Amino acid sequence: MSHEAVKAVQAAVSADPENVPLRLALADLLVASGRPAEAVTEAAKVLARDPGNAQALALVTGGVGDGPTASAPTPEAAPAETVSPETASSEAAAPQEPAADTPPDFDWHHAEQQLDAAVPPPFVDPRQAETGHLRPGGPPQAEGVAPLEPGLPRISFADVGGLDDVKQRLNESFIQPMRHAEIAKAFGKSLRGGLLLYGAPGCGKTYMARAVAGELGAGFMSLVMTDVVDSYRGQTEKNIHSVFQEARHNDGPTVLFLDEIDALALKRSGLTGPASWLRGSVNQLLLEMDSMQGNNDGLYVLAATNHPWDLDEAVLRPGRLDRAVLVSPPDATARAAILRTHLAARPVAGIDLAALTQATEGFSGADLEHLTVTAAEKAMTESIAAGSVQPLTMHHLQLALAEVRPSTGEWMQSARNVVRFANDSGRYDDLRRYLSTREASGKSGQRKGWWS
Ligand SMILES: Nc1ncnc2c1ncn2[C@@H]1O[C@H](COP(=O)(O)OP(=O)(O)O)[C@@H](O)[C@H]1O
Ligand SMILES: [Mg+2]
Repeated sequence: MSHEAVKAVQAAVSADPENVPLRLALADLLVASGRPAEAVTEAAKVLARDPGNAQALALVTGGVGDGPTASAPTPEAAPAETVSPETASSEAAAPQEPAADTPPDFDWHHAEQQLDAAVPPPFVDPRQAETGHLRPGGPPQAEGVAPLEPGLPRISFADVGGLDDVKQRLNESFIQPMRHAEIAKAFGKSLRGGLLLYGAPGCGKTYMARAVAGELGAGFMSLVMTDVVDSYRGQTEKNIHSVFQEARHNDGPTVLFLDEIDALALKRSGLTGPASWLRGSVNQLLLEMDSMQGNNDGLYVLAATNHPWDLDEAVLRPGRLDRAVLVSPPDATARAAILRTHLAARPVAGIDLAALTQATEGFSGADLEHLTVTAAEKAMTESIAAGSVQPLTMHHLQLALAEVRPSTGEWMQSARNVVRFANDSGRYDDLRRYLSTREASGKSGQRKGWWS
């Protein structure tokens, strides 16, 4: 299922959030695209609006993906020990593989060798060249929780473009206190509490958490939403409890990451009738986060969501996820870094990063990745026709820019409304500042092309 189709339906759902059939169609598309966690989130939102909806119930109760909760839940269903790798990570499939319709006699190896000889790599990043920026391996896997996107290379903060203020907040809140426990203790700083990352889809929340995992190693655990949500009575609560217990019993201070937390913590007032069992998960989460203040010093909760305003207020109260940090769409510097990373992995020539950065205002990190994949497909098609590798150039990127649209606009619209009508507590002040800076610099409108 194409990324474009999902994005188109996501845009339609943002424009018409109460449209239940449309949201169900989105959930189905997400399942077909191998993104079960997001499908569950959409299904939970349907249940908040239409509690008896059979299709949404089926999705939430584990009819998605190949995970252990995919089959009909049974009383014996193993809880968190059986967490499986997050299938959503398959989204980032390596794009430079030749397409299935590549002629069988096309010698890619030979062609790439020819090209390597003729065109030197156009980007040389001294940091990568000297030290190698991807450290091998990942945090050891603890029982009951999964490493984030297993199989992907371990990354660190240096791999995340921009977002310096977010890195600083994460550093101050728990990374430095964990690394320098004695100094932290002397200043009366103990490791406890929680922080919520929020922002438009595709702007790096999960990626940032992967970087935190890379920074912390064994001190990081991640809850896999599709393995926890289970409609068998009380099972979701038990699963949540066992994941928190696992994290409490981890050696040393630990960060537990709850990605797409809206699947577990939607506003309870909307969860009525047959969907009321989903309230149990909110209550259990509150219970676990409260006990963070008591018996389990050393446990920090990091959560992420696209829509913090859909969460139950109680989850955001002091002592729980009481700090919300905006993961904003990448600014020019971050876009340049992200584009460079994705382009550097391919045969390219004559890339004008400055022009490209200017033309991609409003693009999320995921949009930028999609743009480079689309341009690579065009260069590949040309290569096949020519019988030799043609490097990806600005021409291919220009063609791709005509197809790939920035996706953050819809989210920005809802964000504007939240800042205007629902920011009495000041929780979204960083969002307010971001929006006003953007509007002041006139960046909220059209993007410009270097070709126009
Ligand atoms: N700041 C960033 N720096 C580098 N890559 C990024 C950044 N933001 C997003 N990306 C790219 O976009 C992809 C999608 O981001 P992701 O973290 O899954 O978004 P979110 O969780 O906010 O929806 C990432 O896998 C990464 O390749
Ligand atoms: Mg994510």
